[in-house]
Amino acid sequence: MGTQNTSIHGEWSSRLAFILAATGSAVGLGNIWKFPWLAGENGGGAFVIVYLLCIALIGLPVIMAEVMLGKRGRSSPINSMKILAKEAGRTQWWQALGWTGVIAGFLILSFYSVIAGWALAYIPRLASGMFAAVGDLSTTKEVTDFVSTRFNELTGNPERLLAWHTLFMIVTVTMVAGGVQGGLERAVRWMMPALFIVLLVLVGYAMSTPKFMDGVHFMFNIDFHKLFYPNGDEFSGAGVLAAMGQAFFSLSLGMGAIMVYGAYLPKHASIAQTTTAVVIADTLVAILAGLIIFPIVFTNGLEPGAGPGLVFETLPIAFGQMPYGTFMGTLFFVLLALAAWSSAISLLEPAVAWLVETGKFTRPIAAIGCGVAVWLVGFLTIFSFNIWSDVKPLSMFSVDKTFFDLIDYLTSNIMLPLGGLFIAIFVGWLMKKQIVTEELESSPDSLGYRVWHFLLCYVTPLGVGLVFLNAIGVFS
Ligand code: PFF
Repeated sequence: MGTQNTSIHGEWSSRLAFILAATGSAVGLGNIWKFPWLAGENGGGAFVIVYLLCIALIGLPVIMAEVMLGKRGRSSPINSMKILAKEAGRTQWWQALGWTGVIAGFLILSFYSVIAGWALAYIPRLASGMFAAVGDLSTTKEVTDFVSTRFNELTGNPERLLAWHTLFMIVTVTMVAGGVQGGLERAVRWMMPALFIVLLVLVGYAMSTPKFMDGVHFMFNIDFHKLFYPNGDEFSGAGVLAAMGQAFFSLSLGMGAIMVYGAYLPKHASIAQTTTAVVIADTLVAILAGLIIFPIVFTNGLEPGAGPGLVFETLPIAFGQMPYGTFMGTLFFVLLALAAWSSAISLLEPAVAWLVETGKFTRPIAAIGCGVAVWLVGFLTIFSFNIWSDVKPLSMFSVDKTFFDLIDYLTSNIMLPLGGLFIAIFVGWLMKKQIVTEELESSPDSLGYRVWHFLLCYVTPLGVGLVFLNAIGVFS
């Protein structure tokens, strides 16, 4: 039949190990840093609803399809797509899906590592009690000035950002070099549950703040006007595109990360059950992060649309005021960094797996090579927050974005949804039904299969297509 039974890179030791690893990939900065930032910037409730709809109607079917591709191909996304295109009797051009995924992974990791570096930098800051001073300040203005000055001190200093980015990449490369069970699996086993517990404690704190209900209201009050008309009367589809892009980003979809993890799935693990567990965990963490951050935002008179610094300017206030805040804060940023690592390894893995499959490189060498390339691209993001903050490479096209903004936009809002779209087309329309049902271990007549297939064949392409057309202004 042309497909292998096991991957040369090894396998997860169990179904649970796969769930933990895939959840490790999905849960990361996307949930805790990016989701609240985007929800805040796009008016709250309506963004959250569109995001949840994208997760349920597009994300869930696509994650199942992507894991299935990996499980069938048993190789890096580039080689899996080659094998599967051949098996389906389709053109070898489908390999391009693997290639664009590798490029997207490099680009994402280049900024992801810099932001994860912020989380690392906050560990000693919290441990040293820096934010305990917040408790002694009398006005909310003093408090917000204090935290934003601390944040700007960090992001304004390229050397410091570079140091943390370098540290983050060294550890990421070391973990990927360790291989499937040795490196990846060991790291995620205990940290997911720990992160979840700390988040629950923080929700408890947020509930004790006077503006908890304002935060809840902001997150769940559906006001489409705010989403579609962010600047008054001018219609914009950008918010919906951001919500869809975030759904892909948060679930690690559309670039092969989840596909390569699927390649290490034991033969008889149920794809539907495992992926559903991953999607639920990921969504829950994002919602919890919002429930923690927005009450703190409103209690302290901060701006929900404060941008990428939102989490770093709100949570330290909470840690500065709550009992055991120094301990909780340190623990929180340690866990955030770990969550970022477990996502980062999945961003690097598709490229490394492919290099190993060429037979020319050992895993450690492949990991180091890719890591150095990503590290270099990371300079663009580092400088976007300081010496190049006024450099807008596409300003001649009236695009007011820094390098960081551009890389983020290009990957989340364009590359990942397009990757998801092509995955949906390939699995939904081009693969043989018998192979798909065999890998999913499902009968083609079962209701679950039929719903999934419908969502993948029609809803995903239409949804992604419409959101794209909308965003480029076709309907306005
Ligand atoms: N899902 C990760 C997060 O939410 O932080 C980020 C990510 C990992 C995106 C892997 C894409 C990916 F392939």
